[in-house]
Amino acid sequence: MTNNQWNSRITFLLSMIGAAVGLGNIWRYSYLVYSNGGGTFFIPYLIAILIMGIPFLVLEYGIGFRHKDSFSNILKGINPKLEYISWALLLIIYFVLIYYLVIVSWDLVYLGSSFNFAWGSDSALYFIENVGGSSNLSHISNFIIPTVISVLIVWIIVWYISHKDLNEGIGKASKIIIPVLFGIMVFIIVFALTLSGASIGVNALLNPDWQMLLNVNIWLAAFSQIIFSLSMGESISLTFASYLPEGSKLTDNVLIVVFANCAFEVCTSFGIFSILGYMSYTSGTPIAKLVSEGTGLVFIVFPKIFNIMGPIGHILAPLLFISIFFAGITSAIAGFEPMINSTIHKLNWSRKKTVTILSIVGCIISLLFTTGISSYLVSIVDKFITEFCILFLIAIQCIIFGWFYDIEGVIPILNDNDKVKVGKTWMFILKYILPIFLFVMWGNGVYNLLLTANNFELLIYVIITVAILILSYIFMNINEKINIKSKKM
Ligand code: ALA
Repeated sequence: MTNNQWNSRITFLLSMIGAAVGLGNIWRYSYLVYSNGGGTFFIPYLIAILIMGIPFLVLEYGIGFRHKDSFSNILKGINPKLEYISWALLLIIYFVLIYYLVIVSWDLVYLGSSFNFAWGSDSALYFIENVGGSSNLSHISNFIIPTVISVLIVWIIVWYISHKDLNEGIGKASKIIIPVLFGIMVFIIVFALTLSGASIGVNALLNPDWQMLLNVNIWLAAFSQIIFSLSMGESISLTFASYLPEGSKLTDNVLIVVFANCAFEVCTSFGIFSILGYMSYTSGTPIAKLVSEGTGLVFIVFPKIFNIMGPIGHILAPLLFISIFFAGITSAIAGFEPMINSTIHKLNWSRKKTVTILSIVGCIISLLFTTGISSYLVSIVDKFITEFCILFLIAIQCIIFGWFYDIEGVIPILNDNDKVKVGKTWMFILKYILPIFLFVMWGNGVYNLLLTANNFELLIYVIITVAILILSYIFMNINEKINIKSKKM
């Protein structure tokens, strides 16, 4: 076993589950189900898992395992020009990590505040003043100090875990954090289901609206949730699978990871809505008025609920915020790995040096997100990255791997050690169905994005696009001299 190989199947599985289970499973999913047809949402959700999530992850596992190389080298091997696309994707994933850690750091501030309920009676004001700011552009130059400190701490943690070898770093962290996270979540869910009013929340969550099945938006919502939640097409699975030893299972492992991830988010949504049901029951406020999107739900609505819960709120609040923190950190270290791996292969640097440099640069950019418009900026960037950049690059990967790569050659490798076999149907989905679906989703996303963006938002989109285009070119053409120089260091 080399430093670059998983030491056991369980280490790989827990690291993959850690990558998948993240912020999206806790705050994004519940709201999505509720606002997209309730129980009806499970139909497009299941279809998205079957025709997109599983087939694409199987592809990523197969290619990573087959080549045992970095994402950029694999694309370069298909056609040298494709290296440019690989760096665009890698830089985007690195950028996702940069702002994802800002959200994790808001959560860290709340974790600290949860011991004495420092958010007081007005949690919305607390969020604006001490954590995420507002959309008021005149506050762009004021740094929010608790978030600044928190970002520094979070980056030190990510650096600490990632600079170690695979099994000592990501592997060990996931083996400790993931079981604890699942344990805490089971406790929260079981407790929440016993609260008075829990059934009001669960009924509101599941209440089906069959008409919604005809609405294209619920299909788009289900497909984008699967992309986000499974960290699909971000070369994370491909990179992790490249560290698997010979004889490893692939498709079977995909099924375990997908099941764990989806069970986690479905069960968590029951817990979240039980707590909302409790609030509705005690305060008389209808559920519809309590539910809000991700950050609003977790950082504004939940603190209000904890305030009225009495002593049990003082136990639930730290548990909820620490579970969000754990989920976020494991996804973040996984999201860091593709960029680390490809940079090491490209520049021949040591892991320590690569992680240290990328962490310092990443931390500096994260700090740009800690000003008085922190949450506004994160939401603008997130929208652009998820609806425009990532979708486009996943669709492109489908085309590249489906049409310009020997995808048939992956089938025997996938079927070698696994109980579940893949074949022509899998190839058909990847070559025809997925690219069509993904390009339709992308077109819709771009249309909505351009329709709703104001000038400031458009400016941010342009800056990101230009930066990615230029940086991808630089990474692709990094001079051999840097290689030679760095070897001397
Ligand atoms: N898959 C990770 C999440 O759900 C990124 O947050």
